[in-house]
Amino acid sequence: LNTLSGPKAMPLIGMGTAVYPFAGSETMQAAILSAIKLGYRHFDTAALYQSERPLGEAVAKAISIGLLKSRDELFITSKLWCSDAHGDRVKGALQTTLRNLQMDYVDLYLIHWPVSTKPGKYNLPFPKDEIEEFDMRSVWEAMEECNCLGLAKSIGVSNFSCKKLEHLLYFAKIPPAANQVEVNPLWQQKKLREFCVQKGIQVCAYSPLGAKGTLWGTDQVMGSKMLQDIAQAKGKSLAQICLRWVFEQGDCVLVKSFNEERMKQNLDILNWELSADEREKIDQIPQRKGFPGLEFVSSDGPYKNLEELWDGEI
Ligand code: A2P
Repeated sequence: LNTLSGPKAMPLIGMGTAVYPFAGSETMQAAILSAIKLGYRHFDTAALYQSERPLGEAVAKAISIGLLKSRDELFITSKLWCSDAHGDRVKGALQTTLRNLQMDYVDLYLIHWPVSTKPGKYNLPFPKDEIEEFDMRSVWEAMEECNCLGLAKSIGVSNFSCKKLEHLLYFAKIPPAANQVEVNPLWQQKKLREFCVQKGIQVCAYSPLGAKGTLWGTDQVMGSKMLQDIAQAKGKSLAQICLRWVFEQGDCVLVKSFNEERMKQNLDILNWELSADEREKIDQIPQRKGFPGLEFVSSDGPYKNLEELWDGEI
C-alpha cells in the first residue's frame, strides 16, 4: 500500500473498467460486484468509459448485501475527459461523475489527457477540428479547487510526460499525487518512473497487459515470446509475470478483467517474486509503446505530431 496526499492509502492493485466497444451496464456491474467479492478495493473509471454508473450501482449493491460496510472501504479513481478540460467546466464535470457514482467524493481525480476538446461530447476518437489549446494552469487550478472542496481527496494527471509534469510542478499549489500512464514490459518508461519517484508522484500503470481487445490495445505484450518463456519456466501465467513486474517497481497496477478466474489470477501476485535473472531478461525486451495517442495530434492543433504530444519521450 502506498499513501497519496489524501487520507487513504491507495491499494496497489486496482481493477480497470475501460472496455471498447462498451460492454453494457449489466455486464460491467456484475463484473465489478464479483471483483469486490474477490477482494478488489481499488476501481479505476473515467467519464469517457461509461463505467461510472455501473460502478456506482455495483458499490450500492455491495453495501446493500453486506459485502461492504460503506463506500469508504474502496479507493475510487475517475478522470476528467478532454471536453471538460477547461477551467470553468472541471467542477461541474466532477459533480456529474459523483452523481453517476452515487458518491460524495472520489479518492483520486485525474486529468485524463493533456488535451482540451470542444465542450459537450464524450468521444474518442474525436474530429480533429475539435482539438483546442490546453490551458494546463486554469484546468489545474480548478482541480485544486475540487480538492479543497473535498470532492476529490487527491488530484493528479494521466498521460503526462516529464516535461509536462515539470511545468505543472512549477505553478501547482497542490502537486499532482499520481500520473497514470501506460506501463508494461514493452513500454517500461524508466525515465518517467525515476522522475515521478523523485518528485513523490505515484505512477499508476494502465494497460499492464497491453489492453488486448480494446481500441487502444495491442497483442504485443500478451504475444511476447520472452514473457511466454519466463512464464512457462516459472509456472505462472504470462499476465502474472507482467503484473508482478509492474508491482515490484512500486507502481500501482490497474488491470482489467471481467472474467472471474482471471480476476483471481491477477490478484495472485503478492507472495512470490521475480528473480534477478528474470528481471534482467525483461529489461532487455525491445521497447515499443502500445498506444501512441495519434488521436490527440493534429496538424492544426497544439500537438502537431507524437513528438510534441509526448515531448520527445517516445
Ligand atoms: P478479459 O476481461 O476477458 O479477462 P489491460 O489490463 O492491459 O487493459 O488488459 C486487458 C485485457 O487482457 C482484456 O482483454 C482482458 O480480457 C485480458 N486479461 C486480463 N487478465 C488476463 C489474464 N490473467 N490472462 C489473460 N488475459 C487477461
